[in-house]
Amino acid sequence: MADIGDIKASYDALDELWIRSLKNMFGDGVLLDITGARYNGDYNVPYLDAQRNKQKYVLKQIKFKKKDRILDIGSGWGPMLKVIKNEGGKAAGITLSPAQVKYCKQNKLDAFLLDWKEIDSKKENKQIDSIFNKPFNSIISIGAFEHFCSVEEMKEGKQEKIYRDFFKTASKLLDSKGMLYLQTMTWGGRGVPDLEKDIDSSAQLHSLKRIYGQWKAYFPGSWLPNNEEQIVAAAKPYFDLTRSEDGRLDYVETARVWIEAINAPGGCKKRLSWLKFLGKGLIRPELIARYKSVREDAFSRGFAYDMIGHRRLTFKKKK
Ligand SMILES: C[S@@+](CC[C@H](N)C(=O)[O-])C[C@H]1O[C@@H](n2cnc3c(N)ncnc32)[C@H](O)[C@@H]1O
Repeated sequence: MADIGDIKASYDALDELWIRSLKNMFGDGVLLDITGARYNGDYNVPYLDAQRNKQKYVLKQIKFKKKDRILDIGSGWGPMLKVIKNEGGKAAGITLSPAQVKYCKQNKLDAFLLDWKEIDSKKENKQIDSIFNKPFNSIISIGAFEHFCSVEEMKEGKQEKIYRDFFKTASKLLDSKGMLYLQTMTWGGRGVPDLEKDIDSSAQLHSLKRIYGQWKAYFPGSWLPNNEEQIVAAAKPYFDLTRSEDGRLDYVETARVWIEAINAPGGCKKRLSWLKFLGKGLIRPELIARYKSVREDAFSRGFAYDMIGHRRLTFKKKK
């Protein structure tokens, strides 16, 4: 599993620049979704509307009602916490990123530094217990599942068990009619790459090997689920799948907008974020390598070439 160090490397370091870029492009009030928007194939739809479409879709899938208690596993910078709060619900989020917790708290959103695998063992903490001591109406998890299994765990054959444990935990936290909305990357239609033969971040520019290599470098500690079938099989003892959508091509467009925002010229605040990022890069050269993968567009190419897939899955707790 990606641990706090991996998540800090994936999100906290480059994200200050990324957040500033999005705020420059869309205004300071922009919700900081860091997951695929829902264009539904219509790329005339502006980015912010596509993110709103995703947020509305999530609420519809979980049959959200005012006053519902929702747990967001992997809540990021809190976009869904904010949407749920605005709609009259009560949302709590967990994340492995200290910077995200701080940002959410500053924005009066309930986010906690907690790994879902440790929910049970942390119950002696009063604040944690006060959140988890009664069932949730629904759980959402958007763009976190892909971090739950590490390369090492995959090699040790633990992938299925980790996913089964996740669904078991989610089921225990839900009330009897609970819904679970899960959005995740998977390996794409090209299949699962061979760790030894197919992945090399120093291979020829834009080659598939290099793109896989950059993905692996970008998300240290994470190995993607194979496909939807693997996820649904792991969920089966606890949940029935009620709806599935393919969001792969929508992610190509989402990533295109992010890269445009990062590369756009900016004012003083953006220049300052750049300087801070470059400063961190002097101490940690892997950050610059990660930025290079953004510049080379490895993210959207991975989806466009069907190396990486993306699923929006709605589950209902089994009776
Ligand atoms: C790509 S971000 C998605 C954030 C947000 N859901 C969104 O749509 O913008 C992935 C999130 O999953 C969290 N995460 C990854 N593994 C986790 C785990 N084991 N327990 C809790 N959160 C986790 C990360 O800290 C991060 O907040």
